Amino acid sequence: MTQARTPRFIQCHVADTATERAEIERGLLDPAASVSPKYFYDRLGSHLFEAITELPEYYPTRTEAAIFATHGAEMAAALGTGSTFIDLGAGSCEKAARLFPLLEPSRYVAVDISVSFLHDALKRLQREHPLLDVVGLGLDFSSRLELPAEVLGAGRPVFFYPGSSIGNFTPAQALAFLARVRERAAGGGLLIGVDLVKATPVLQAAYDDALGVTAAFNLNVLRQLNRLIGSDFRPEDWRHVGLYNEADSRIEMHLEARRALTVLWPGAQRAFRAGERIHTENSYKYSRGDFAALLERAGFAPPACWTDERGWFAVYWAAAR
Ligand code: AVI
Repeated sequence: MTQARTPRFIQCHVADTATERAEIERGLLDPAASVSPKYFYDRLGSHLFEAITELPEYYPTRTEAAIFATHGAEMAAALGTGSTFIDLGAGSCEKAARLFPLLEPSRYVAVDISVSFLHDALKRLQREHPLLDVVGLGLDFSSRLELPAEVLGAGRPVFFYPGSSIGNFTPAQALAFLARVRERAAGGGLLIGVDLVKATPVLQAAYDDALGVTAAFNLNVLRQLNRLIGSDFRPEDWRHVGLYNEADSRIEMHLEARRALTVLWPGAQRAFRAGERIHTENSYKYSRGDFAALLERAGFAPPACWTDERGWFAVYWAAAR
């Protein structure tokens, strides 16, 4: 009788708090102040993001899910079965798990910054798929994509990067990231979800919703900064701004000071004028052709592409021959 398996967990990323602190301070002291969007995702921030995906205005999550539901069989025919399926930013692992009946991977590698985020989800997943080889990997894949050989195994590597998280990189960073994936995907490829350019009011509403959930998500970063560098930001002094910058094809999120104020933290301070902003996130939107060209520049074969009826979102399969 074949024995049920248990997930393996490997933590590679070690948080470097001194470097993190220095990076945050540099961003805050820059005349054009900014904070990396990676600091959105503490426990509350992750819950707020989950809530965003339920909002009527935030179309990407449900549009992508509909594309997978409609075209999953065609995708499986292109990708093949029996792969090592590497889920970048796996979180709850639900998106990948929905594809398992079609893709029948031999190994599932869930990658997130910390394996502690993956524990419960992978244990649940292993109960549902007792024979699947399941690995949880703690890795900051946005800066390094060094996957231990024991994790990749002998299977064909298929990378999975859904949710249009690629849009949170600048196009230059996205190209470098895709090229790193390409280097590691020989014989397999990349299945990736990308948000497309569309009418400005649709985009703007998705990032400035009526209930103010995106505003809470954006403002929550200030609590995270207070925790990380000991600053005294008061969220009530700041206003959420979400706007579409048509020239750069990107949503920008900012926090805008409601009045003149000074923020203090050990060793430094920063004065903000009323109306001055901290840039917290970009979310780039691509045309179908531009993203296909980016994949090819990164070294992938010309990709297959599936979209929804409105052409709002695209899923690409890019083979790494
Ligand atoms: C995670 N990422 C793809 C989201 C996006 O749409 O850029 C983050 C987000 N920011 C505000 N709402 C959602």
